Amino acid sequence: MFGIVNSQAHNVLVQGIIQKNLLIAAKQYLKGDMIDIGCGKKPYAEVLSPFLNRHVGLDHEETFHDLGNIDLFGTAYEIPTDSNVFDSALCSAVLEHLEEPEQALQECNRVLKVGAYAVYFIPFIWHIHEEPRDFYRYSKYGIKYLFEKTNFEIIELKALSGFWVTFGQLFVYYLYRFNRGPLRWFKIINLLGLLIQGFVYLINKIDRTEKWTWMYMVVAKKKDES
Ligand SMILES: C[S@@+](CC[C@H](N)C(=O)[O-])C[C@H]1O[C@@H](n2cnc3c(N)ncnc32)[C@H](O)[C@@H]1O
Repeated sequence: MFGIVNSQAHNVLVQGIIQKNLLIAAKQYLKGDMIDIGCGKKPYAEVLSPFLNRHVGLDHEETFHDLGNIDLFGTAYEIPTDSNVFDSALCSAVLEHLEEPEQALQECNRVLKVGAYAVYFIPFIWHIHEEPRDFYRYSKYGIKYLFEKTNFEIIELKALSGFWVTFGQLFVYYLYRFNRGPLRWFKIINLLGLLIQGFVYLINKIDRTEKWTWMYMVVAKKKDES
């Protein structure tokens, strides 16, 4: 129904996996007025629009991304709204950029209604990006600890890949460092990158060793404070 958004030839595989899982989660958990914390380009706006009443993108003014997609300027630590106002939340590839993740989870919890769901995408093995605001990577144990400490019940915690997707996708990013001159003109790296992504996608179906996942998807529910 939708194309793979936010993707270029070099990361069509991981973006495809994220989008597939986001759609499945959205059908069950994302609804009403949703806050998208660290929205960046708001890449999933079109995919999510059938499920939502409002998609409120929050980001800070120093973001690397186009400010035109931001509905609410603030930070993950200080969302400029009342408490208990949102029906759902999305926070995709942001927690690693936050120096105080616990504080950010508390703030997300504050603005959600009791019983509302939040969907997070959180990397475990990935290269440094959006420097210098790149602070952490998370194992599933760290994720569980942080969410439970901040008044969330974890409903789903899913590793999105095994070793081969992680390794293959990182290798493609590495290769793109050499994408210049004749290699770029003849699209050799683009082609090689697509072949590698296709190949690792197939092997990942055979060997899903989740210990090497590049990313987790978390669905968490705001608990009653009492
Ligand atoms: C890797 S991008 C992800 C963007 C988008 N969520 C996506 O999935 O494409 C990380 C985002 O986190 C935002 N960010 C970094 N520090 C932040 C903070 N303290 N408060 C809110 N957003 C922050 C950045 O501006 C950026 O938009």
